[in-house]
Amino acid sequence: MILVTGGAGFIGSNFVLDWLAAADEPVINLDALTYAGNLENLASLQGNPRHVFVHGDIGDFALVAGLLAQHQPRAIVNFAAESHVDRSIHGPEDFVQTNIVGTFRLLEAVRAYWSGLDAADKAAFRFLHVSTDEVYGSLGKDDPPFSETNPYEPNSPYSASKAASDHLVRAYHHTYGIPVLTTNCSNNYGPYHFPEKLIPLVIHNALAGKPLPIYGDGQQVRDWLYVKDHCSAIRRVLEGGRPGETYNIGGWNEKPNLDVVHTLCTILDQLSPRVDGQPYREQITYVTDRPGHDRRYAIDAGKIERELGWKPAETFETGIRKTVQWYLDNQAWVSNVTSGAYREWVGKQYGEQK
Ligand code: NAD
Ligand code: TYD
Repeated sequence: MILVTGGAGFIGSNFVLDWLAAADEPVINLDALTYAGNLENLASLQGNPRHVFVHGDIGDFALVAGLLAQHQPRAIVNFAAESHVDRSIHGPEDFVQTNIVGTFRLLEAVRAYWSGLDAADKAAFRFLHVSTDEVYGSLGKDDPPFSETNPYEPNSPYSASKAASDHLVRAYHHTYGIPVLTTNCSNNYGPYHFPEKLIPLVIHNALAGKPLPIYGDGQQVRDWLYVKDHCSAIRRVLEGGRPGETYNIGGWNEKPNLDVVHTLCTILDQLSPRVDGQPYREQITYVTDRPGHDRRYAIDAGKIERELGWKPAETFETGIRKTVQWYLDNQAWVSNVTSGAYREWVGKQYGEQK
């Protein structure tokens, strides 16, 4: 079996759902259920014996050590993190605690477990750490996209804490020999995305008749990766990645924020027009820029394609249309998140282990 951390969050829950749809191998899902963890994302797994949810913190050494001893996973995929840049600006402490201290304690539990395995299991074991392109800093307009050899130049408390965790993961490979893999991906989008991030926030606000906030001039560029493509890339790296290596994962979809918002408005105009017949673009509002806002991220995903034969299946145009449709079809999920009702979703409904 495998252990997934942060599997009740946006990417983690997509990964667990995809994994169990594609393979028989069971998943232990360890998640602290912070504001970003939502067990409703996993409602379709209720009663599925191949999914065991454990409510807990990656920084709880005793808990993680006990889980590893009990379940003997062959691999760990570490999604658990504080993930929102704006929150890291308002309160960096949780980011240091989970992303740095939490990853360190998780690695310590893994080191103790892995050291006790026999030679064959040691060699087969994998610790896959999910990181971000934001660790590389900000690109100029004409700079080449980030490759795996770019220096780390993180600019926000979020990216600095992720960079620190990447360094710890790297050190546990070089110092102790643990077979680790690190992936650095671009901005994900798709189902179950918490509506504090740009794409789900704009869809939600548009439908609610609220302003669509554009930070600064809206010309900041991000690369967009459909979450299910990200999940397939992680599966591929887990299967074929070389221990100690890092792999950049991107969608080959660089877009200025304003273009993304215009695209969302156009699709919504077609799929769910405003009752007054006016275009959703009317709701766009320019607001004060984010402090230290990185201007451009772009990913060169050539290594994973050359070495592991992976490339994204979705273009931005196909992925964004599916995403808007998903939000239109799942408005109850969105309103449970925005009202806070999702916090009451009790894990024991489908077999939480404390
Ligand atoms: P998310 O915020 O939606 O989910 C994070 C999950 O981790 C939540 O379920 C939360 O409850 C859990 N968690 C937080 N602290 C924990 C702790 N101490 N112990 C156990 N669980 C804890 O994040 P996401 O967008 O799904 O991102 C997943 C990973 O991918 C993160 O490591 C993030 O840095 C990385 N990443 C995300 C993006 C993106 O676009 N969303 C891009 C690049 C990298
Ligand atoms: P976000 O989804 O927070 O991801 P990240 O900061 O990790 O890239 O933001 C994506 C881009 O959209 C980023 O440049 C900030 C911008 N943005 C807005 O312009 N308005 C918003 O309301 C939000 C949430 C983000």
